[in-house]
Amino acid sequence: MIKKTVAIALFLFFVTTTSVMTAGLVVREINKNNNSSTNQTTNTITSNQTLTTAELAKHNTSGNCWLLISNQMYNVTSYIRSHPGGSNEIIRFCGQDATSAFQTKGGQGNNHSNAAYSMLAPYIIGKLNKTITTQQLDTSITQTNTTPPPANNGEVEDDD
Ligand code: HEM
Repeated sequence: MIKKTVAIALFLFFVTTTSVMTAGLVVREINKNNNSSTNQTTNTITSNQTLTTAELAKHNTSGNCWLLISNQMYNVTSYIRSHPGGSNEIIRFCGQDATSAFQTKGGQGNNHSNAAYSMLAPYIIGKLNKTITTQQLDTSITQTNTTPPPANNGEVEDDD
């Protein structure tokens, strides 16, 4: 009789220990999966940025100046001080669609030169309504903020 009781007790002890350990492992696995899927969701939500006109409008100061020209978004912050037409000509369009302002030099009527058009390239952030990762955005902001104006800033050489 005692033998039988000991056997049952051992059996119960074994079953309980195994169940508790298995349950512990299962809970750990579930937590691990949950965490990684939470991280994935957070990443997808926080790491994408669409270049909307609403986003453009936030960059409307001389220290943080985006222009939209022909559906392309530019960060021209670092160029403002070198602009041959003066800083204010650009500053008043920061955060806006400056397509026609650029094509008419702010209403003067004449377009920018080809040299001026080719100077835009280093300041590109991306096309309007394009979705990029915040990492890509950070990289292009850093690049455009540290892009110096070209040595010959669109000025015509004097021969004398
Ligand atoms: C909406 C924004 C802009 C306005 C309203 C504007 C306006 C003007 C004006 C009024 C001039 C002087 C014209 C003259 O005295 O003959 C000028 C010249 C110039 N601007 Fe702008 N500008 C703008 C943006 C830019 C940007 C973003 C760049 C280059 C990245 C640029 C590059 C130049 C250059 C190189 C000149 C010398 C003349 C030429 O090559 O056409 N401008 N701009």
